[in-house]
Amino acid sequence: MFVFLLAVAAMEILGIAIIFPILSIIFESEKNESHAIFSVLKFLRIDHDLLHLLSALVFVTFLKSTIILISKWQVGVAVANLGLDIRNQLVASICTVEWPYFVQKPAGELANVVTSQIDAATNIYFHAARFGSDFIVALFFILFASILSPTIAILAFLISPLLMYSLRWFLQLASRSGRYQTALLQDLSRLMVDRLSSMKYLRASSEESVLATTLDNTSQRFAKAIKMDVFAKEGVSACFEPLVVLSMATGIYFLLMILGENKSEVFLLAIIFQRIMSKIGNMQTSLQGVVRCRGFYETVMNTIQEIDDRKEEWNGDQTPTLNSSLSLNSVGFQHGENIVLKDININVLAGSFTAITGPSGSGKTTIVDLIIGLQNPNYGTITVDEIPLKNLNIKMWRNLIAYVPQDPVLFNDSLWNNLTLYKNATSESDVWEALSQVKLDAHIRALPDGLHTVVGERGAALSGGQRQRLVIARALLRMPKLIILDEATSGLDLKTENQILALVSALDMTKISVSHQPAVLRYADQVITLIPQTEKQGSANSESLP
Ligand SMILES: Nc1ncnc2c1ncn2[C@@H]1O[C@H](COP(=O)(O)OP(=O)(O)OP(=O)(O)O)[C@@H](O)[C@H]1O
Ligand SMILES: [Mg+2]
Repeated sequence: MFVFLLAVAAMEILGIAIIFPILSIIFESEKNESHAIFSVLKFLRIDHDLLHLLSALVFVTFLKSTIILISKWQVGVAVANLGLDIRNQLVASICTVEWPYFVQKPAGELANVVTSQIDAATNIYFHAARFGSDFIVALFFILFASILSPTIAILAFLISPLLMYSLRWFLQLASRSGRYQTALLQDLSRLMVDRLSSMKYLRASSEESVLATTLDNTSQRFAKAIKMDVFAKEGVSACFEPLVVLSMATGIYFLLMILGENKSEVFLLAIIFQRIMSKIGNMQTSLQGVVRCRGFYETVMNTIQEIDDRKEEWNGDQTPTLNSSLSLNSVGFQHGENIVLKDININVLAGSFTAITGPSGSGKTTIVDLIIGLQNPNYGTITVDEIPLKNLNIKMWRNLIAYVPQDPVLFNDSLWNNLTLYKNATSESDVWEALSQVKLDAHIRALPDGLHTVVGERGAALSGGQRQRLVIARALLRMPKLIILDEATSGLDLKTENQILALVSALDMTKISVSHQPAVLRYADQVITLIPQTEKQGSANSESLP
């Protein structure tokens, strides 16, 4: 890379060296053969006639542009690969972060970091590399220029830092704008994702203006940050050129009027000075890019750090089996100050059907989260075949479970992908078998695109009951050892619910169903009733009915 930059500076200076004799020819001024330029041209065996000189000028410019293109391409490729690496690393980290992190971290913010902020952040390297290369080229250029005109080189060396210093205000503005932009983009993304997920309700209640109202302030501030950015960027170029021309005009005036220098030589010096200044201008632009991207870079790095600090702490390596029982032994759990579960004892025999009931907020879903290992109990242990959950390989344990959550999870993709979770090796007959078990096969067969029908965002193109049946079918396809249904049949009519419960209760696996529905109780081998802590202060909040 260093060699590339040296070559670019050499080409630049060579280009200028060739211009000098061209100017002498055009202005028909006498040739000062002793000038350093002529020695350079002689060394390169470039003849002094107009055609040769012009051809050499074109060739050198092409060569220089090609070298610049290659070096910039290399930097661009390195930056794109870095973006790819950071994105992959972040996605992998998101998959292993502890569950409570997701509960408090808005999805829109994470999505925004992964989609757009990473690219803006990695651009800091692109701008930094450009700044570095502009700096080196400028330095070489000034050094080479000192061969042609030491006065101009010294002048440029002194003026350049002054010029950059005088424009520092624009740098500060660009930096501030970058920080505002990254924070406001996070806000916009978080608000959009949150509000859009409630759009059906908002439209139905003619309250869609909530979207505009809550976004308005952030959008206005974002627009202000963009305006700041534009001002910082354009302000630099607007101020830079007049300052350069001012110093050049002063120089030309003194050289021509006072010193009475050779016209073509003064013209050449002006070109060298202008070229050096254009390098300094490039440095200023690159530096501005660096400070602008710094905010994005910090946001991305902070998010990566935040996620890495909250990795799920499951280090067990024993293989789970669930051949005899799953037990919660004197388990307690609280969310901050809020005691949710106290001294819970539940024993689920392998193959049995356990129903968990209790009023809303009594901790039913929390028990499920503890069994799956998404939350950790504050005290007590959870054991699978007598082995504590923390000693088990958690990924293998979750592989044994089919979890059907309270809100059916569906992706905006085909029925096939939703059922198989992108495992294309799944047998189609197994899929149809699972669908027929939940009584959804006839409906799907009647669809024009069958299993390739797209279900819409979160399954919006399906009815509530169809969504529930679809996720139960997906659970059955996993052939689990433990199926957990969290209010999974609440959206079904009584007849379908009974059919599905009868089907689930006959499955050769351990079954846990959280439900308020009386129908569930009929199929259960044991019923655990949770009592909210507020109603039964100080004692264990579960009652077990055989
Ligand atoms: N992330 C959280 N932070 C703080 N408190 C929480 C959090 N999640 C749940 N809770 C509280 O924990 C308690 C138990 O919640 P849980 O979801 O387990 O109830 P549930 O019995 O499943 O209720 P429902 O029948 O309404 O689904 C509730 O009081 C709830 O407010
Ligand atoms: Mg719940």
